[in-house]
Amino acid sequence: MYRKIKGKQTSRKRGRPKKGAVSSSPSTNSGRYPEGYLRLVAFGDRHFPHTLECGDRIILRLIEDLQPHFIVDGGDPICASQLSSFPKTHAELIGLQNELDGDFSWRKSIAKVSPDSQKILLRDNHFTKRLMKRISENPWLEDLRFMSEDSMFSAKELGWQILSRWIWKDLLMFIHGDGQGISSPRLPVNRARAMVKDHGISVVRFHSHCTGFELHRRHDGNLLHAIQLGCLEDPEKASYIDHPQINNWTHSLGVFYLSEKPPYHFFFVPCIISHSRCIFNNTVYK
Ligand SMILES: [Fe+2]
Ligand SMILES: [Fe+2]
Repeated sequence: MYRKIKGKQTSRKRGRPKKGAVSSSPSTNSGRYPEGYLRLVAFGDRHFPHTLECGDRIILRLIEDLQPHFIVDGGDPICASQLSSFPKTHAELIGLQNELDGDFSWRKSIAKVSPDSQKILLRDNHFTKRLMKRISENPWLEDLRFMSEDSMFSAKELGWQILSRWIWKDLLMFIHGDGQGISSPRLPVNRARAMVKDHGISVVRFHSHCTGFELHRRHDGNLLHAIQLGCLEDPEKASYIDHPQINNWTHSLGVFYLSEKPPYHFFFVPCIISHSRCIFNNTVYK
């Protein structure tokens, strides 16, 4: 895909991170990307097969345009209600493979537009916790390689690293956020703020399906970010939501610019999905 910049035909792939490298040389990103910064895209709570219809398209195009060095998936990529302990019908007990297959196709699409980025998938409650519980009830499953998250998500093949949290330069922590206290949908930033205040680190949290952002100034002038990113799940498709019109779920993702050199710092750009579209960097994604 090409676009004209100052009369020259320029590849959208300009500035694409080289495999295994997370530095961007000025010659590759000048003009199109902010010089001296690595780019990161974060999104989460896709909850396949309840995924927001426009969400995949928007994120794929944005990744294609931004060519990030890092991609963080905040967790809950599939619903995995088959693994839950809630009462369910027989039809609800099967279908996990279908969800994993849907997730595989999604990650394959990401690999196609961003083969060389460092990709991190965060552990969560919908899959990780439920899987661990089922395994703890059936200890013979414990050493079976195909029961691991890595194997189920084909992580190695698709280039993803599965972690409980990911921290950049001791400054910015990405975490799914389950088990970090009860959050109130009326106060979206509450849990992220509590983590920021308790641990003195900027936090990007997922899990609550709400969106919010606060800045706190530390005594030394450094800024601490409390960021709560929304979900990519369509509340109309989630059968356990009785009144999808009156929940506080919102759809959003985040773009981050991480400084390449000390003093390390970053910039956060929220991307809100509304009316099946999102505007970022003078472009409408839909
Ligand atoms: Fe979720
Ligand atoms: Fe969650």
